[in-house]
Amino acid sequence: MTGPDYAGYLRLERLLSLQEPLYPAGDDTATGSAELFFIVAHQTSELWLVQTLNDLDAATEALVGADGTGTPDGMEQALEHLGRAVAVMGLLEETVRLLERLPVQRFAAFRPRLGTASGAQSRNFHDLEVRLGTADEGESPLYRAFLKALAARGTSVEEVCRLGASGAGAPHRLAETLLDLGYRFWHWKVAHLSLVDRAVGGLSGTGGTAGASYLVSRTRMPFPELRSTRERLHQGQTGT
Ligand code: HEM
Repeated sequence: MTGPDYAGYLRLERLLSLQEPLYPAGDDTATGSAELFFIVAHQTSELWLVQTLNDLDAATEALVGADGTGTPDGMEQALEHLGRAVAVMGLLEETVRLLERLPVQRFAAFRPRLGTASGAQSRNFHDLEVRLGTADEGESPLYRAFLKALAARGTSVEEVCRLGASGAGAPHRLAETLLDLGYRFWHWKVAHLSLVDRAVGGLSGTGGTAGASYLVSRTRMPFPELRSTRERLHQGQTGT
């Protein structure tokens, strides 16, 4: 069977021609290497965001079914996609931690060349926030799909949380996986905030915001309904 070779299949010629530090080559190799590191971290993050968005949309489709009303049968499929999205989100967080290896004097040398470029302009990250319901654009379509699938199965978030793992099965695993996703996303935000403090302290961002204080105001947790339903399980319990 004929087909593409490794480089052809992965379109490596194009992909590997896209890492171009702006710091003049030869001026200072250490700064050039640091900028390459910065670029690769951002580019790989964008690629992993593509995968995450794909998995979140596939999970949403599996939960709502072909007619969009919600299906009881798509939960295992949704779990496959969401489990992967949770793992990839961990990698995004690790990538941000990796950037703690960017020496501040090297960053200071190439940062002026970034102009107004900022992660805040990331279309993929914005789309992720829309999927998770933390953008200012209404509730999460994924969470809505989860509610529809539960209704199609004749159950509710309250019941699933109350019954727990042994009583509710797949719906409970789904609820916990959504929580995992939400917390991983939150961990990314916290890790990024910590990186920003380390890399630029209290300086404003290249995107024109106040920097760290702006990022604090943007740190929201996905799926508030699910979290408050779980919280209510404590009501009526005695003891500590
Ligand atoms: C040394 C590394 C980094 C620094 C100093 C940094 C700095 C900042 C700052 C200051 C902001 C606020 C907006 C502005 O620019 O005014 C911001 C936002 C943002 N950055 Fe970074 N960043 C770094 C790495 C990354 C990486 C690796 C990603 C991965 C894609 C990323 C994605 C984002 C996103 C998505 C936002 C908007 C976040 C939100 O609205 O909550 N950043 N960054």
